[in-house]
Amino acid sequence: MKIIMLGAPGAGKGTQAKKIAAKYQIPHISTGDIFRANIKNGTELGKKAKTYMDQGLLVPDELTCDLVVDRIQQPDAANGYVLDGFPRTIPQAECLTEALNKLGSKVDYAIDVDVPDSNIVNRMSGRRACLKCGATYHVVHAAPKVEGVCDTCGEKLVLRDDDQPETVQKRLNVYHEQTQPLIDYYTKEGILKSVDGTKDLEEVFADIVAILGE
Ligand code: AP5
Ligand code: ZN
Repeated sequence: MKIIMLGAPGAGKGTQAKKIAAKYQIPHISTGDIFRANIKNGTELGKKAKTYMDQGLLVPDELTCDLVVDRIQQPDAANGYVLDGFPRTIPQAECLTEALNKLGSKVDYAIDVDVPDSNIVNRMSGRRACLKCGATYHVVHAAPKVEGVCDTCGEKLVLRDDDQPETVQKRLNVYHEQTQPLIDYYTKEGILKSVDGTKDLEEVFADIVAILGE
């Protein structure tokens, strides 16, 4: 099963993508996580990506598309994958469609996690991230067992640099301008499914499972 997660920053794409990956035994491929890992390791890609991410801007398509096209051809992705944070622009969607055509493959579902902007800022200010293993928490809705500590790996949790309120507003503007048009793109492809992302995270997941099948 090949799945794309769509939705505003903070809509819960990453939270749901991790649950999908675990249930259907497919890799969770997050471009945001890939960039953050590169920043942490001080790679050239990380240095380039950081200048855009810290401003709430998208990393240029040419740094993003090849990376994903390469990743989805790795052996662990042979039975499918869930893409989280990609594609994010029409050129990225076209790049993916073209690459999949060449591979004789296609995306099965594009799931839009729909949350109004008014809820987003609150979610992001309460988010705490583990920069070591990529786990995500929320101080109220998904709290770790010990405050400020990752359940999975014990690392100290942090507020992401791009989760400062001014940057969140910028990311929302970028989302509406550059990413929202993908909803039309995948509606035309006939694979768009929308879920109400304002519900409790287990309810959102149940709605997604109802779409994907048990
Ligand atoms: P990325 O890491 O992809 O960030 P994003 O899309 O802005 O999404 P987020 O990770 O902020 O949110 P999410 O929807 O995954 O929400 P989450 O599940 O964490 O990208 C970061 C940056 O990298 C971009 O700005 C860009 O610069 C760059 N980048 C990445 N991909 C790129 C690409 N393809 N092209 C160009 N640039 C790219 O949930 C948020 C919070 O809410 C959490 O605390 C969570 O616990 C909580 N929560 C989740 N669901 C619920 C619920 N149902 N109820 C209550 N709380 C909930
Ligand atoms: Zn961790």
